Amino acid sequence: MSMHRRSALSGRPFAPDTLMMGYGYDPFLSEGSVKPPVFLTSTFVFRNAEEGKRYFQWAYGLKERDPSSDPEMGLIYSRLNNPDLEILENRLACWENADLSLVFSSGMSAITTTVLALVKPGQEIISTNPVYGGTDFFFEHICPRLNITVHRVSAGSDTPAKVEALLRERAGRVRLVHVETPSNPTNSLVDIRALAQAMKQVGVAPPDSEILLMVDNTFLGPLFQQPLNLGADLSVYSATKFIGGHSDLVAGALMGPHKLLKEVTVFRTILGTMADPFTCWLLMRSLETLDVRMRRQQENARRLVTLLKAHPAVERVYYPGELGETQNAIWQRQCSGSGSLIAFDVRGGEAEAFQVINRVEICKMAVSLGGTESLIEHPSTMTHSDLDEETKASAGITPAMIRLSVGLENIEDLEADLRSALAVLD
Ligand SMILES: Cc1ncc(COP(=O)(O)O)c(C=O)c1O
Repeated sequence: MSMHRRSALSGRPFAPDTLMMGYGYDPFLSEGSVKPPVFLTSTFVFRNAEEGKRYFQWAYGLKERDPSSDPEMGLIYSRLNNPDLEILENRLACWENADLSLVFSSGMSAITTTVLALVKPGQEIISTNPVYGGTDFFFEHICPRLNITVHRVSAGSDTPAKVEALLRERAGRVRLVHVETPSNPTNSLVDIRALAQAMKQVGVAPPDSEILLMVDNTFLGPLFQQPLNLGADLSVYSATKFIGGHSDLVAGALMGPHKLLKEVTVFRTILGTMADPFTCWLLMRSLETLDVRMRRQQENARRLVTLLKAHPAVERVYYPGELGETQNAIWQRQCSGSGSLIAFDVRGGEAEAFQVINRVEICKMAVSLGGTESLIEHPSTMTHSDLDEETKASAGITPAMIRLSVGLENIEDLEADLRSALAVLD
């Protein structure tokens, strides 16, 4: 018997961290195995031809399955469905209380498959700036080839007003608003609820559709920020980061309502951008410790923020809750934590930032974030090197900026590491 979202005895809903240990999996379908096995198979056997026909009709939307009279949907082929993918998707959705989640081969395939499924040639997108370099490249270089125009607005306290003005100007043309909050790497916050309300007020959408709000929730989600509860239509993730959490896999995820995810599923099936069974299994393993990891990483990060703020070689620290009055008000309204991504400017420029990065001993010099180990990098010449100088400047990505993803190492060791690296600037 698999676990349900609520207690069968009391009806009380279970919290996500409880559900991660068993939700959506029936051990007795797998020899009583406590953990779901890895179903390393590309294809599945049908009992008879009629069954195969039925599954294809439902999978390809040729016929609606009637849950009250039809038998259960079955497995066909691992590009369409696989037990590890299905159990994982059911579990992941619990974190944002979403109808459904979809898991992809990378964060980029989650973003691109979703955009391709929901935005048609001729329609337009508004995206905040900065966004992750890969997303930026997709919007700047690939969308225009598909006749999808992408407008950019800077991420910050005035984003809702700017988006509302642009929506009025582009009346009836914009289909999707994409927001990264906190944004990578500056941690700027956008007020999701205010943005959703501003979008509703404008209310003019391409024919037969609504304007959708998609939030990249990689930095704080799913633990410390839940965009679907704040009025967003879609919450998208690089699951490579905190959800995977061990820097040993690449994956992406999307959460949202049935209606939209059904359209995205068709594109994922045809583009083949789903996650493979072993990656799904690893992600299920990771979800069991998500809450503990994210909270402990945050604890470490807060200690390092205190150190950095007081350090004479540090010019400025960018961390949610430490970004000035207006940004902090947004943070208090929409986030239940600050996470473990810190950006800071050292006094000086690129040369001084490089000196510090080259000197650390525990923090590994690598891009990516959200893993158990601390990672340090230089956004201007690494993750965001593709952005032109003007865009970097308007996004606040300075040559002196260092990004630190704080892991689970002993905090005193981390503090000592950072202090001795910064001493190079004395
Ligand atoms: C905020 C954000 N969104 C999306 C992505 C893309 O994810 P992936 O590398 O899993 O394709 C990244 C990757 O660093 C990211 O930081």
